[in-house]
Amino acid sequence: MRIEIIDHPLVAHKLTLLRDENTPSAVFRQLVDELVTLLAYEATHDARVQEITIQTPLTETTGVKLAEPRPIVVPILRAGLGMLEGMSKLLPSAEIGFLGLKRDEETLQAITYANRLPDDLSGRQCYVLDPMLATGATLIDSVNYLLERGARDVTCVCLLGAPEGLRNLEKAIGNRANVTIFMAALDDHLNEKGYIVPGLGDAGDRLYGVV
Ligand code: URA
Repeated sequence: MRIEIIDHPLVAHKLTLLRDENTPSAVFRQLVDELVTLLAYEATHDARVQEITIQTPLTETTGVKLAEPRPIVVPILRAGLGMLEGMSKLLPSAEIGFLGLKRDEETLQAITYANRLPDDLSGRQCYVLDPMLATGATLIDSVNYLLERGARDVTCVCLLGAPEGLRNLEKAIGNRANVTIFMAALDDHLNEKGYIVPGLGDAGDRLYGVV
């Protein structure tokens, strides 16, 4: 497993605004969109391409296009949905699948409540969107789910992570080289309720309100 923390002034700037409790939902959503597009640029560094021949107005030349099978983007419901637009801007031809996982607030374990993905993901590059890598339970389940169905590489895009979650992921995923985690920052710790500190609060609530 590889972990990449994106060190970029625009990422840090947007993340600081996201952390601010006075940032309203509409601005928060816009910032998540912009931030994910920046992260997506980094996270797609290893996107597979195939060579093609094209005709420019002047001559024939070679270039590349995204390889088949197309990558699949998997937002984890609900908060991951807020990251979909930002990711899709850079990968408009990707397919989109959905995984609904929520955490049991008592055990902090992930529970799957929705799944809209192809059964066979053989050879697919998968991009998982989950804003908060807290205990890591959701990502562990998601990554295992995708790899069990034949995914070739799984790249997770997160806004924030906690050291506890990364340790759990490392234990569960081990040294599988085809799993990469991209995030905007690694925070200090998890509090007793499993929230990332300093964090940004409940990402789903900040995106969509408390329901
Ligand atoms: N999920 C969130 O939305 N925020 C946290 O801090 C941890 C998990």
